[in-house]
Amino acid sequence: MRHLISINDLDREDITYILKRAEEFEDVARGERNLKILEGKILGNLFFEPSTRTRMSFEVAMKRLGGDVVNMTAQEASSIAKGETLADTVRVVSGYCDAIVIRHPLEGAARFAAENSSVPVINAGDGAGQHPTQTLLDLYTIKKECGKLDGITIALVGDLKYSRTIHSLIKALTLFETKIYLVSPDALALPDEMLEEIGGDVSRARLYEVIEEVDVLYVTRIQKERFPDEEEYRKVSGSYRITLNTIKNAKDSMIIMHPLPRVDEVDPAVDKTRHAKYFQQAFYGVPVRMAILSEVML
Ligand code: CP
Repeated sequence: MRHLISINDLDREDITYILKRAEEFEDVARGERNLKILEGKILGNLFFEPSTRTRMSFEVAMKRLGGDVVNMTAQEASSIAKGETLADTVRVVSGYCDAIVIRHPLEGAARFAAENSSVPVINAGDGAGQHPTQTLLDLYTIKKECGKLDGITIALVGDLKYSRTIHSLIKALTLFETKIYLVSPDALALPDEMLEEIGGDVSRARLYEVIEEVDVLYVTRIQKERFPDEEEYRKVSGSYRITLNTIKNAKDSMIIMHPLPRVDEVDPAVDKTRHAKYFQQAFYGVPVRMAILSEVML
């Protein structure tokens, strides 16, 4: 694996391999075992959009494996503020590091970065495009918490239009034998062209009709920052919320996932139920990103 730009870069076998590698790193991620396989390696974090989980879990993954990280976070404190192009920034940073992680508001920016980099580039989210490392940790969470990927029924809830997490995950899920329900307000529905492209057992549903059947309830935030204007956002803001009442007929084993951050779409009262797995999911980002970094750097 050289670059990781889209989940389409991986097939079922690649994904299965990365998830298996991640499992081998879990004790290292928890700090229970020392493994310095990335000693002497440096990761360059180029974040042109805010991030807590993705940036920090890449950093923790590198450091737990003995490597180091340099960050470019505040654009106003870098030469981007002087008008430096993305291509030039990537050319320079790829001379300093052994791999680059990039998050950018423009779809296609990560692929463009890869074309201008002399080292592997990992896409940490490009606009409403893709977020492949999130998908790998989502699949890892399902495998760990449900015990399998084949045979699961999953409801994808919320902003299916702009969520890059959903756009990556839905493609990966169709590589496995999954049944997918799309649950969203009409204005936030999965784009038709994406629905046609993915194939698989995918249908629109209302949550109350399918909640008893689902193994995974995957909830997303409304991606306010992607809306063309504030008025369009206001029309859908607060249009769905998962509460104790929403999940009262769910299976005991049903898990709730969320890539986080959440705003108001999951009632905090749900956090105390056995269903809530979103904080565990965020932790799984560390071993999964260890697996990815070791693939691209070694
Ligand atoms: N899930 C996710 O991408 O979170 P951050 O925006 O905090 O990185």
